[in-house]
Amino acid sequence: MLLLGEVFPNFTAKTTEGEIDFFEWLGDSWGILFSHPSDFTPVCTTELAKLVQLMPEFEKRNVKVIALSCDTVASHFAWAKDVQFIAGVSLLDKFPYPIIEDKTRVIAYRLGMIDKDELDSSGIPVTARAVFIVDPKKKYRLSLMYPATTGRNFIEILRVVDSLQLSDREPVATPADWKVGDDVMVIPNLPESEEFFDHVVSMSRLPSGKRYFRRTRV
Ligand code: BEZ
Repeated sequence: MLLLGEVFPNFTAKTTEGEIDFFEWLGDSWGILFSHPSDFTPVCTTELAKLVQLMPEFEKRNVKVIALSCDTVASHFAWAKDVQFIAGVSLLDKFPYPIIEDKTRVIAYRLGMIDKDELDSSGIPVTARAVFIVDPKKKYRLSLMYPATTGRNFIEILRVVDSLQLSDREPVATPADWKVGDDVMVIPNLPESEEFFDHVVSMSRLPSGKRYFRRTRV
């Protein structure tokens, strides 16, 4: 089982942009590897189309995106036009991110991306809606796992990238429902003597009497 903070397992794969070595392809970028159950299915089409629309936002954050399913590269190429159509972009545009062919499911099983409830036409389980975020040091930083029947919220995925990148820069953590511009929390193990923020906006007086609830602004 892969644990947060460990180095992500590298792999090679056949993709719509040729054979890739995952780490080489990432270079110095953050990376998001996400899987979908199958090409030519409606929810998957909405998800990949949303990513097409949001690619400029991921690029702004130095994040590369790569998709994966058990379908072939030929299937991905044919389906990509439907995805672009639903995204409302020109079918002549280059598809903005690669899609991995994992017919043997070797990557999917290694990373636990399989949904046992979702079978292909031969009765073999297909990939779940998984998301893995890897940082520029190739560390595994976050994952999400959704079943086939629930499409993901890609604005939430941008939000978690913002949170990860901010907490790498500053000794802060982002509270429930945080979004860029909101106050953040000083990490609990930062001693008060080491606070370097211009101002701790508020230190809540808690029933426990403990002094950990410190909001600040970055
Ligand atoms: C879909 O993408 O629409 C889908 C795929 C597999 C199972 C259910 C829905």
